[in-house]
Amino acid sequence: MNELLKVEGLSVTFGGLKALNNVDIELHKNEVLGLIGPNGAGKTTLFNAISGLVPPASGMFSLDGKNSIWPKTHQLANLGIARTLQGVGLFSGLTALENVMVGAQAHASKGFFADLFGTSGKSEAKLKVKAQKALAWAGATQFADKYPSELTYPDSKRVALARALVLEPKILLLDEPAAGLGHDEIEKLANLILQLKVFYSIIVVEHNVEFVNKISDRVYVLNFGEVIASGPFKEVRQDSAVVAAYLGTSASEDVKLGSGN
Ligand SMILES: Nc1ncnc2c1ncn2[C@@H]1O[C@H](COP(=O)(O)OP(=O)(O)OP(=O)(O)O)[C@@H](O)[C@H]1O
Ligand SMILES: [Mg+2]
Repeated sequence: MNELLKVEGLSVTFGGLKALNNVDIELHKNEVLGLIGPNGAGKTTLFNAISGLVPPASGMFSLDGKNSIWPKTHQLANLGIARTLQGVGLFSGLTALENVMVGAQAHASKGFFADLFGTSGKSEAKLKVKAQKALAWAGATQFADKYPSELTYPDSKRVALARALVLEPKILLLDEPAAGLGHDEIEKLANLILQLKVFYSIIVVEHNVEFVNKISDRVYVLNFGEVIASGPFKEVRQDSAVVAAYLGTSASEDVKLGSGN
């Protein structure tokens, strides 16, 4: 298989807590990987480790078949990895377009704000075109000049997605992209992700299992920091360890492993 990203034996500890314990994950090219599991299972921590936000206690990381040291946050864009945050995380003082331009500027790996507004007219114009394209991809063109406070939650999530897309990454890490969205918005997002799959390889953390079922080629299930099952969603949801993990939570409707179609 075209293995793009591989994480082997990843453990992350916070004081006495093993947030991740010996986790192995592989992402193939043009694949959507779903990452599910109860609250506190370690899903965001896995993204944080890949993004250089938390240091692994142990584990191997490889990209494109090449072993590498764990990335530092500032190297991510150049490694072709972009993520969205659980929640939204836009800069409130910048318009949607400027937020996305800041994202693109990070790719040029120069100093963020100062450079954004200090760039020459030509490169700023280029940046703007890239940012506009990314907004278009995310279906957020009409929000370009709006500030985050003027946007609905679903619309601000689109802008946050555009800010990841503008990096033209190979790998997209999406942390709960459907959270807080209504049924129709979730449907649109699922279709968008299936379109993006042509260009990107995507890992999606999500509690909405119907959404995960629709978009994912394979899923990994984390529970208490360990991968307890992996494979196609339809198989994994029948796995007894997975059923037990979900029954063990005081899960909301979203979190329960629905009937799946
Ligand atoms: N920076 C941190 N410092 C200390 N503990 C942390 C930190 N980040 C996460 N944890 C703990 O690690 C465990 C895994 O958390 P994580 O946020 O990865 O879970 P999650 O699967 O993303 O959960 P959710 O579905 O609620 O977002 C939890 O017990 C959490 O409290
Ligand atoms: Mg999380």
